[in-house]
Amino acid sequence: MRILLGITGGIAAYKAAEVARLLTRQGHAVRCVLTEAGARFITPLTLASLTGQPVFGANPDLGEWRANPVVEHIDLARWADLVAVAPATADILGKTANGLATDLLSTLLLATRAPVLWAPAMNTAMWSHPAVRANVARLKSFGHSLIEPVEGLLACGEEGGGKLAEVEAIVDAILALGSPRHPALEGKKVLVTAGPTREDLDPVRTLTNRSTGAMGIEMARALRNAGAEVHLVLGGDGPAFPLYGLAPTRVRSAAEMLAACEKLWPAMDGLVAAAAVADQRPETCSAEKVKKGEGPERLTLVRTPDILATLSDAKRPGQWLLGFAAESEGHLENAAAKLTRKRLDAILANDVADGQGFGDQANTLTPVTAEGPQPALGPLPKDELAQAAVAWWAHRLAALSPSQP
Ligand code: CTP
Repeated sequence: MRILLGITGGIAAYKAAEVARLLTRQGHAVRCVLTEAGARFITPLTLASLTGQPVFGANPDLGEWRANPVVEHIDLARWADLVAVAPATADILGKTANGLATDLLSTLLLATRAPVLWAPAMNTAMWSHPAVRANVARLKSFGHSLIEPVEGLLACGEEGGGKLAEVEAIVDAILALGSPRHPALEGKKVLVTAGPTREDLDPVRTLTNRSTGAMGIEMARALRNAGAEVHLVLGGDGPAFPLYGLAPTRVRSAAEMLAACEKLWPAMDGLVAAAAVADQRPETCSAEKVKKGEGPERLTLVRTPDILATLSDAKRPGQWLLGFAAESEGHLENAAAKLTRKRLDAILANDVADGQGFGDQANTLTPVTAEGPQPALGPLPKDELAQAAVAWWAHRLAALSPSQP
């Protein structure tokens, strides 16, 4: 992806370096455009060194410069798959909302046909000023997207809204808005279950498993980036930063996860079941903390509902189901058995022998369909593995229903 990163004059400009670094590390081409005020907070040399790309715009000592003599604002505007401005000051929001083109960044913001993402940062009073609110509303009416500033201690010493969103959240929003769409998934409604469930014994004790939910969250992001409308039902602690356009339905137990999924399922085109649902729960959950007794104690466990199998039973024609199978032995055979038992379109088998597949490590998934095991995906970090799995599934969907766009 080719990203044009506009950087305007705010104390948060230093965080733009990290946005540029993370995107470059993920293989994207990032070209930075500085306003004159932006270049007083962060140097072109820093950004050029991090991105390996030329930096454009203004240098407070040298004036506005040009990397080449052609019509640069048009060239850059055409080059970009997405334009992001982080941090965006009240000034650049106001200029663009009103069609002013006074420097390279404001000019190319008028000239671009690519999606535009704003990540504003300013003093709380400025952010809540009616003029800024009106400019933001106007920019949204142009189809521009915005990642809201967060609450926190601002550089001016005030506490409140106006702090630049987290760097990871900005990168996530850039990928959500600028990634290439996949025709088989674009506009499709996909339900994703992710994370562990927690089955309570009493107000302080719970039964759960080692799943972090990372793979399911990455699947949700990859589907969203491919253009799907994703509905994420999430157990466990959840992501470290807010996911762009993915406000999850948070659940605790398998029963809660099933209730949330059953509500959504009739309107969905497909399901990706990545949750590590606890298969058993304590027969009773005590309202008060249970006191310890003498000697060995017994805990009676009962089965939780199988969410994937229940939704498969309620499937209407045209809906598809994709499962996961985490297995510590015979992973391909066991996955194939689950594919048949739960009547799935495909299952992604994950070998979790010796603790593989949990947490941050690189991981491998083998898709299994009615035709048998397909070529393995990975080993890859979970975000790239999810992208590979979504690409595999999108190609298969397109091949299965070639008449659909
Ligand atoms: N699954 C589910 N609800 C459950 C259990 C599993 O929706 N109560 C889904 C998982 O999200 C996954 C698939 O079913 O997509 C397989 O999950 P897994 O735990 O590997 O298999 P189980 O069916 O629980 O079988 P077993 O524990 O015997 O391996």
